[in-house]
Amino acid sequence: MTTPDQVPRAPLIQIRGASKTFALPKGGQFHAVKNVSLEIREGEIFGLIGKSGAGKSTLLRLINLLEQPDSGSVTVDGRELTALGKRELREARQNIGMIFQQFNLLQNASVFDNVAFPLRIHGGRTGAQLAARVRDCLELVELGGKADSYPAQLSGGQKQRVAIARALASGPAVLLCDEPTSALDAETTRALLATLKDINHRLGVTIVIVSHELSVLDAICDRVAVIEDGAIAEAFALDGSDKDNDNGGALRKTALGRELASLRPAAPLPAPSPLPGPPAGAPRPVHAQPAGAASPAPIRTEAAHA
Ligand SMILES: Nc1ncnc2c1ncn2[C@@H]1O[C@H](COP(=O)(O)OP(=O)(O)OP(=O)(O)O)[C@@H](O)[C@H]1O
Ligand SMILES: [Mg+2]
Repeated sequence: MTTPDQVPRAPLIQIRGASKTFALPKGGQFHAVKNVSLEIREGEIFGLIGKSGAGKSTLLRLINLLEQPDSGSVTVDGRELTALGKRELREARQNIGMIFQQFNLLQNASVFDNVAFPLRIHGGRTGAQLAARVRDCLELVELGGKADSYPAQLSGGQKQRVAIARALASGPAVLLCDEPTSALDAETTRALLATLKDINHRLGVTIVIVSHELSVLDAICDRVAVIEDGAIAEAFALDGSDKDNDNGGALRKTALGRELASLRPAAPLPAPSPLPGPPAGAPRPVHAQPAGAASPAPIRTEAAHA
């Protein structure tokens, strides 16, 4: 029987056949994203992992069209971004927040003004509504008391929280995170990941996170894609719910996928039979195995582009 929890969630982000090339300074082109198709479901935390230069950031930036694909389409929350004009795209981008490794805060603006910045650009709120929204967002990241501070007066973790508050100010359905913890120490990383998870849980914001740290993705992601050479080498659910990573990840195609899957404990063995066993010390009977009884679980193939 299917419970409500098992009903597959609808895709919120759909990338179809997207490619991106960059012109090289000495002529020629570099193919950074190659014909990628990917669906990310509403409310999930989705990770992108891969070696440096694999194309993770470029793929992430295709989701809000900070990079325009040369071909293919990007649809977010029912709107095909690749079909929009400039003005419509600016409006649609309010539905997609983004945070970066180096926080990208305005150094000469207070915490309050940093968070208010995107709201002022888009207008449509009275001063009181804007102030209330900024304060709500700062409370959400537990920085309610820092509204009048300046970025230089904050720790790295606090700066990233301000960036999260700013990204959430317009009430987006999606939060894109490019290496959000790479500039933070281990303890601050854990706290920031807890904040991201809390935001996902409380607000239902879909999160796409790029990281080269397996432990970061393992801590918060529902599913991940391994990016190799501009393409998706494999994509899978970390809890094994797609039935592809039984056996401690031995079925994974990539070294990173295997390493990531191995961080999760293997599925528990079936419970022992409730029938009473032989008396202690009695010789164990040897039964012939019925044909196929000990055969390994069937290996499911998966499309190269999930
Ligand atoms: N604007 C650009 N012009 C030319 N080449 C670019 C540009 N942006 C990215 N590239 C190239 O595209 C490739 C993918 O870059 P991208 O930044 O997406 O990699 P990444 O997987 O995020 O790497 P890292 O883990 O180091 O951040 C790299 O080889 C990079 O040099
Ligand atoms: Mg990058």
